[in-house]
Amino acid sequence: MSNILEINNLSLKIGVQDILHDVTVKVPQKGIVSVLGANGVGKTSLMRCVSGIYHATGGEILLDGQDISKLKSHDIVERGVMQAPEGRQIFSTMTVLENLLLGAGALGRQELDHVLTLFPVLKERLKQQAGSMSGGEQQMLCIGRALMHKPKVLLLDEPSLGLAPRLVGFICELVTRIRDEGYSVLLVEQNVKAALRISDKAYVIEHGKIVIEGDAHELMSDKRVADAYLGGHVHEGS
Ligand SMILES: Nc1ncnc2c1ncn2[C@@H]1O[C@H](COP(=O)(O)OP(=O)(O)O)[C@@H](O)[C@H]1O
Ligand SMILES: [Mg+2]
Repeated sequence: MSNILEINNLSLKIGVQDILHDVTVKVPQKGIVSVLGANGVGKTSLMRCVSGIYHATGGEILLDGQDISKLKSHDIVERGVMQAPEGRQIFSTMTVLENLLLGAGALGRQELDHVLTLFPVLKERLKQQAGSMSGGEQQMLCIGRALMHKPKVLLLDEPSLGLAPRLVGFICELVTRIRDEGYSVLLVEQNVKAALRISDKAYVIEHGKIVIEGDAHELMSDKRVADAYLGGHVHEGS
């Protein structure tokens, strides 16, 4: 099995604070891998290291076998890593269409049709101000904007945050569909239950360290995961 992305023994210090310590996470081609953990444990920092916003103090990040950990973020984007960042970060006073086409260059118009097939809701709202849409719709826009670049790896930072349960389910279904189209996804989430359901593999992070890893299916029935993250309920099967 080939990994499109390998984060090996990554460490990040900011000032005197150890944010990430010896983190190893591997994302196979056409898979969904999630890094799960509570607020403040280093999930966003990990995403920022992959996308070159933070530079790790140790370890390596291999994209297709090449170390990208020292590159600038625009080079990393060019090599095919796109992030749907925490908090969505869409341009709220611009239209949906403007958000989608932003920075998409020549590929833009071609990819637009494809993204709009995945997100029919956005198609109906191309001229609407992005900020006037609901949270779920803004999340779709955020993911759609990343997909406009046909990324080799799609990074999703807490897409379910702040959404009603029904919409969480909807976004999860969407992420599965994106994977089924052949995309490779690294997802970080606090919503352990929702993320495990759609992931192939998962890692649990606490205080900047990976403490549990395994097949998502296995982790659903792992007692440590259940006690700490699923209110003690072990999920038999799925
Ligand atoms: N730029 C920064 N400067 C100082 N501390 C930071 C910075 N970025 C993240 N941190 C710290 O790193 C820790 C992990 O944060 P973060 O990666 O945002 O966690 P999560 O996404 O899991 O909530 C927190 O203690 C946070 O305060
Ligand atoms: Mg975060």
